[in-house]
Amino acid sequence: MPLRRSLPAAVFLLLYVFPSAYAARPFLLVITNDDFKDPSADGDSADAATDDSADWEDFGIPESNSEDDHDPGSWRPIFEPSLPLLSNSSDDPHSSMYLSGVRDMINAASSGDPSAMEAAAAQIEASASVGHPHAQSTLAFLYGSGILRRINHPKSFLYHSFAAEGGNMQSKMVLAYTYYRQDMFDKAVKLYAELAEAAVASFLISKDPPVIESVRIHSGTEENKEALRKSRGEEDEDFQITEYQAQKGNAVAMYGIGVLYYYGLRGVRRDHKKALSWFSKAVAKGEPRAMELLGEIYARGAGVQRNYTKALEWLTLASKQRHYSAYNGLGYLYVKGYGVEKKNLTKAREYFEKAAENKEPGGHYNLGVLYLKGIGMKKDVSLACQYFLTAANAGQPKALFQVARLFQKGIGLKKNLPMATYLYKMVAERGPWSSLSRWALESYLKGDIGKALLLYSRMAELGYEVAQSNAAWILDKYGEHSMCMGESGFCTDSEMHVRAHSLWWQASEQGNEHAALLIGDAYYYGRGTERDYERAAEAYMHARSQSNAQAMFNLGYMHEHGEGLPLDLHMAKRYYDQALDNDPAAKLPVKVALSGLWVRKNYPDSFLIHTMDSLPHIFPRIEVWVDEVLLDEGNATILTLFVCFLTVLYLRERQRRNAAAHPPQPDDAPN
Ligand SMILES: *[C@@H]1O[C@H](CO)[C@@H](O)[C@H](O)[C@H]1NC(C)=O
Ligand SMILES: *[C@@H]1O[C@H](CO)[C@@H](O)[C@H](O)[C@H]1NC(C)=O
Ligand SMILES: *[C@@H]1O[C@H](CO)[C@@H](O)[C@H](O)[C@H]1NC(C)=O
Repeated sequence: MPLRRSLPAAVFLLLYVFPSAYAARPFLLVITNDDFKDPSADGDSADAATDDSADWEDFGIPESNSEDDHDPGSWRPIFEPSLPLLSNSSDDPHSSMYLSGVRDMINAASSGDPSAMEAAAAQIEASASVGHPHAQSTLAFLYGSGILRRINHPKSFLYHSFAAEGGNMQSKMVLAYTYYRQDMFDKAVKLYAELAEAAVASFLISKDPPVIESVRIHSGTEENKEALRKSRGEEDEDFQITEYQAQKGNAVAMYGIGVLYYYGLRGVRRDHKKALSWFSKAVAKGEPRAMELLGEIYARGAGVQRNYTKALEWLTLASKQRHYSAYNGLGYLYVKGYGVEKKNLTKAREYFEKAAENKEPGGHYNLGVLYLKGIGMKKDVSLACQYFLTAANAGQPKALFQVARLFQKGIGLKKNLPMATYLYKMVAERGPWSSLSRWALESYLKGDIGKALLLYSRMAELGYEVAQSNAAWILDKYGEHSMCMGESGFCTDSEMHVRAHSLWWQASEQGNEHAALLIGDAYYYGRGTERDYERAAEAYMHARSQSNAQAMFNLGYMHEHGEGLPLDLHMAKRYYDQALDNDPAAKLPVKVALSGLWVRKNYPDSFLIHTMDSLPHIFPRIEVWVDEVLLDEGNATILTLFVCFLTVLYLRERQRRNAAAHPPQPDDAPN
């Protein structure tokens, strides 16, 4: 199975996407000259651009901004029961049975009570059997993960399909991801397009929401303390200090606190009312950034009654204070004729141009929409395309969506379904269903590992790489304390290993180097899977392609020993050297390995070599000891060699001493 989908090379425009410090690495997407269509061939497809203009609101104002409408199967009522439910479910007995089933399931995961879990699963199954789509989606999750049900992928797929047909968005995510993994792009792209559209509808008008942080709770094998500290919400010391300053009248602090509540960042629960209250206080002190967000709040009707007149007032004030992104909001109001005397497309364009001139990606995006659809100007697809790419380049998510669409339909850009799927997936993952990660992290921080594992596992199924690696890490790190539920009661060791292995595998497919390395180790040592040197080599190769020194090192080791890769001491040396070039910290292990290699070249079949080669099999106990006592981030292979080397040194030393007493044995040791 290919570990990673290849994307085109040769630079024209670079899209840096999700530059998160905790991502395995920032993903770099390259769009090349070859991707652009010959403009002369564009005539017919330009018409195609407008064919479906009615089916999507390009400026993306949500008629409703309730998560319940965009994500009807959300588990939100369980985590945020105080929020009003627009879609009233309490009058539907199946819905309430479903919700109480999910609530019981989450509580059982939390307390680690397998019989309560079984009862909850039975309740969900009962609700699914009468055709409740959200219950079907949850049941599919249980079958897919092997929680209280024997793992059954066909059954899981079937229930997800029913659920998706019944409108469950999370099951659509699962299906899209399943097709994506199997390179069935024509199916994946349709689902992801629909999901991305729903996600875009929940985005803001004038300003981009910051990337919703998917916190990676581990960094390598260790807990990511720094990221976790920053996610403690109202408990965090920094938050408390800022809040204190805000209460003392500091306008910048007021704005800062408001932003955390408005977007629900850093583990703070989203609270539009509190945000509104802090922004109002901040503008009274003349904080212009708060003016813009107040405009946004009134235009969206988030936590208040929608009032376009007020939105216009605040956006105008903000723009006068040189907050150029506010021009996007103003332009929007003029496109729609909301809150202004009348619709004026010329004025709208002027505003968008002002935003664009001042390097606001939203301005480029909006101009792109005007050109694409010929709103208030002559239609120009290739210009629209350039605008979208510029905005996408700056990480503007709505523009990513548009670029995906151009790739999907072959408008302005050559039709490219894998690329379209990939871009849609990124946008879709920012949809309302991503709030699962907020609750998962909150549970983890409270020490509720069982709940965190369950929620991350659900997200993992939806295709979130961070959730896959978080869930896998929890299984590895917490073992039986992870409250992992298996086919009957708690997970057996083997169920736990298999589950962790499958999660790491998926994360590594999605470009997570650490996961690729762990997969390599799992195959190498036969943990959670059959020992398979060739697949180990494949996984290390994958990590190596991302300049991972450890993977290069391991590849060198495998060449040296002819495990999974041909025995080739020259290649081995080359990999060891590469590892050193990529990471100066690899110096010690590389030196160790090169010394080992030297011994092997010069004294093949010597006693030392036999000793070195037999050591790894008696090794595990020493490895644990070294891991706990000496090193934080232990890599078994490196440690193996390290101990081997110490042994070599010891044996050489002993032989030297022996040599003083007895005649030397030239074939046994170097001197
Ligand atoms: C939801 O249902 C409850 C009780 O069934 C009812 O009192 C309430 O008005 C309903 N809310 C909406 C928004 O329909
Ligand atoms: C909207 O805001 C304006 C100006 O602040 C106010 O005059 C008007 O009454 C508000 N409209 C509604 C429906 O609240
Ligand atoms: C629209 O705005 C432009 C420039 O701001 C102005 O010149 C024009 O008169 C306006 N058109 C209408 C119909 O109000």
